[in-house]
Amino acid sequence: MPVQHDAVPPADDPRLQSVEQAMKRLRYQPDALIEVLNAAQESYGYLSRELLLHVATRLRLPESLVFGVATFYHFFTLRPRGEHSCIVCTGTACYVKGAGAVVNSLEAHCGVAAGQTTADGRLFLGTARCIGDCSLAPMLTLDDRVCGPETPASAVAKLQQLLEVRDDQG
Ligand code: FES
Repeated sequence: MPVQHDAVPPADDPRLQSVEQAMKRLRYQPDALIEVLNAAQESYGYLSRELLLHVATRLRLPESLVFGVATFYHFFTLRPRGEHSCIVCTGTACYVKGAGAVVNSLEAHCGVAAGQTTADGRLFLGTARCIGDCSLAPMLTLDDRVCGPETPASAVAKLQQLLEVRDDQG
């Protein structure tokens, strides 16, 4: 199976910044944990151990509590939902620049609706509200790679390339 990075990316990763923005907006309140985890899962596609530890540190909560909440609710997932992930930002900036058409083209290409994994388990197609770098709108992530601005055609081409390259390496 291709490598899926499981570490919190560098601080300049827009996904981490979007999680930080969510925590800041919620004033780092411990009772905002579920909302923060939602934002984190949207951006990354799943909640890695490192991401949960990061949230615990930032919200000053016991790690055991954060892990307990993440495992209790069925809508949180602690593992990648496919060998690869493609997450399209549908936040306001991306949406007004055509994110809806990007999602539609990827859904048609992959044969799954956003929020689902392909039947062969190769790809999770997700959406997020804001991945943190609106200057790239409309943007998306392919595994840990941030791409944008994208058109429906360029998004499909990059996805195809990702799957082919990883196939060649595998
Ligand atoms: S709306 Fe901010 S990155 Fe898409």
